[in-house]
Amino acid sequence: MKKTISIAAALLVAQLSFAQNDITTKAKALMAKMTLEEKIGQLNLIIPGGAATTGSVVSTDVEGKIKKGLVGGLFGIYSPEKVRKAQDLAVKESRLHIPMIFGLDVIHGHKTIYPIPLGISASWDLGMIQNVAAMAAKEATADGLNWAFSPMVDIARDARWGRISEGSGEDPYLGGEIAKAVVRGYQGKSLALNNTMMACVKHFALYGGAEAGREYNTVDMSKIKMYEYYLPPYKAAIDAGAGSMMSSFNEIDGVPATANQWLLTDLLRKQWGFKGFVVSDYTSVNEMTAHGIGDLQTVSARALKAGLDMDMVGEGMLTTLQKSLNEGKVSLADIDQACLRILEAKYKLGLFDDPYRYIDESRPTKDILTAENRTTARNMAAHSMVLLQNPHQVLPLKKSGTIALVGPLANNRRNMLGTWVVAGDWNKSVSVYEGIKNAVGNNANIVYAKGSNFTDDAEFAKRVNAIGAQVDVDSKSPAELIQEAVEVAKKSDVIVAVVGESSDMSGESSSRADISIPASQQALLKALATIGKPLVIVLINGRPLTLVWEKEHATAILEAWAPGTEAGNAVADVLFGDYNPSGKITATFPRSVGQIPIYYNHKNTGRPYDGTGSTKFKSDYLDESNDPLFPFGFGLSYTKFEYGAIQLNKKELKGDDKLTASIVLKNTGNYAGEEVVQLYISDPVASITRAVKDLKGFQKVSLKAGESKTISFEITPEQLSFFNSDLKKIWEPGEFIIQIGTNSAEVKSASVIWKKK
Ligand code: NOJ
Repeated sequence: MKKTISIAAALLVAQLSFAQNDITTKAKALMAKMTLEEKIGQLNLIIPGGAATTGSVVSTDVEGKIKKGLVGGLFGIYSPEKVRKAQDLAVKESRLHIPMIFGLDVIHGHKTIYPIPLGISASWDLGMIQNVAAMAAKEATADGLNWAFSPMVDIARDARWGRISEGSGEDPYLGGEIAKAVVRGYQGKSLALNNTMMACVKHFALYGGAEAGREYNTVDMSKIKMYEYYLPPYKAAIDAGAGSMMSSFNEIDGVPATANQWLLTDLLRKQWGFKGFVVSDYTSVNEMTAHGIGDLQTVSARALKAGLDMDMVGEGMLTTLQKSLNEGKVSLADIDQACLRILEAKYKLGLFDDPYRYIDESRPTKDILTAENRTTARNMAAHSMVLLQNPHQVLPLKKSGTIALVGPLANNRRNMLGTWVVAGDWNKSVSVYEGIKNAVGNNANIVYAKGSNFTDDAEFAKRVNAIGAQVDVDSKSPAELIQEAVEVAKKSDVIVAVVGESSDMSGESSSRADISIPASQQALLKALATIGKPLVIVLINGRPLTLVWEKEHATAILEAWAPGTEAGNAVADVLFGDYNPSGKITATFPRSVGQIPIYYNHKNTGRPYDGTGSTKFKSDYLDESNDPLFPFGFGLSYTKFEYGAIQLNKKELKGDDKLTASIVLKNTGNYAGEEVVQLYISDPVASITRAVKDLKGFQKVSLKAGESKTISFEITPEQLSFFNSDLKKIWEPGEFIIQIGTNSAEVKSASVIWKKK
């Protein structure tokens, strides 16, 4: 059996490398006919006017450039009609008829919008995540696209950073598994199929490590931290076959990623064997002038030499590479290399066989916003939600009596989709009010009041609304709004307050120094808390928030993130128990901003504070606890899960032995439910300091009320390994603490000794 598999695997590798050779030969033959200008043209990615931009520069004379063969790809436009028009220019009017690729920020869906990626990650459901990516690819390709600027795999330990919403949180192992699932979902079995698209893994690299969580800020990080915690998800995405990468805005070791030779060549290509192409971020080539490493010609040449293949929007390469070649600052081989990689990608996508492969005017009506897509979006959203607190089991709610629905996000379609929605239409989303009405029909009475503005701070609102009005200021005064809500709440059996952030309060260029619920909404919650009715908070937001007051005063808290197109229906599914919540947070929720960066896999330090005894001369704060509000991996259910003690098949192991660690998980509550069982390992003594624990496995298990299951993890030395001072991945013999539990802070433990021989 083993032999058959290895022969099949060898055949597949041989086929793939034959296909790659074949593609390379064809691309080289085409390049033999290309002028220097046309080759440089392939490195040019531009955005036609009218498309959604994320920088201050927009491309000009797009048509003229395409006809001259000066454009490798376009992004920002979609629909078969528009893409056909543009592709016609390249294929029919340029000298060599080279097709263009068409990209877009398909981040959490194309037109059917799924929850924001941070929410999706909270499902820990890799099958579902892969399926969602596949459906997004089907929709996006139906709209003429073949290149998704996703997955965003940047590890983030700082909730001030607005883009934490676009990634999978703080853990490299989980982040890597999700990265693989998304790449597989987009790229399917073959990139050349008309319903699959090329992934673009971003932002390479370390973008999530921006100092103080401030957008586009400097990153300064030790190599060990990079290798151990920040790089694994990029590597995982590459191992899953991702076709392209996007360089990040930040610097690494003093050199911006976009011109960082160590990053783009030594690490990416030589160490990791990446074969695809690398595109810059939006004008990140040009921005290296502001970083302070030279004028446009210098930075464009440096980027190319470092291993960047495509220049997004800035046209530094288009306008200066010829000059740099004449002056000997780049070689023809450098230009050929980048051009070859872009052409190879087009061959892989099947565009040379049929440049119109993804353009089919009959597809949008068949493939976009279908009932199936909506059902998937609803399920994904329900699975992403995290029950943060419910001590008195006020949830699930009954579909009877009077429910007061209040808050600026309670009856709001506009802010259900979250950040990075280029093609999604918020008019097509379901508000929480609509979802709850759909769920209860005439069985319960729903009374509604807005209760507050998103924010009463006009300057904050203006900045949030910079690319479209999301946040309005009501004609009623804040006091009147609160009064209305209080009146409505007094008549109810239970209050559901839907509060949090508008879609653009997180995402790109949306860092916040204060990550609490805005003051206007806090005032509303405080007024509601005095009424003496159960107060259920439903959070719609894009990042971990500081919720100390809310945790103390709310009867229940449901973290719903920005749930996407089916928001309201999914919120209702969870509130009424039609779906029992199973999400677990993938980024630590701090108690206060002062604790940031806060993450579960921290080091012990030489003076750890273990929560007992004097705090003097211990690593702690005078005015804040070390503990987070909600730890990584935390999330409740309407049922209760009990973990038995860990059973090990061996207590002493050697070499390549395998360890089996099992626990019996029992559903002791009254509902069927799903639990994410998490495996952590600690390495208490090593040649370098290690994190207090690291996630090494997880399983999402479904149990009926009263049911028990034995959950087993097989552990190999690979899971004990780490990057040592020489950046070699090794494992060292000694004691390891195996931990299995419901979140990173609540685990059962058992110790093993693992020797080399
Ligand atoms: C800038 C963002 O950083 C990146 O994530 C995005 O893909 C590009 N703009 C293109 O819109």
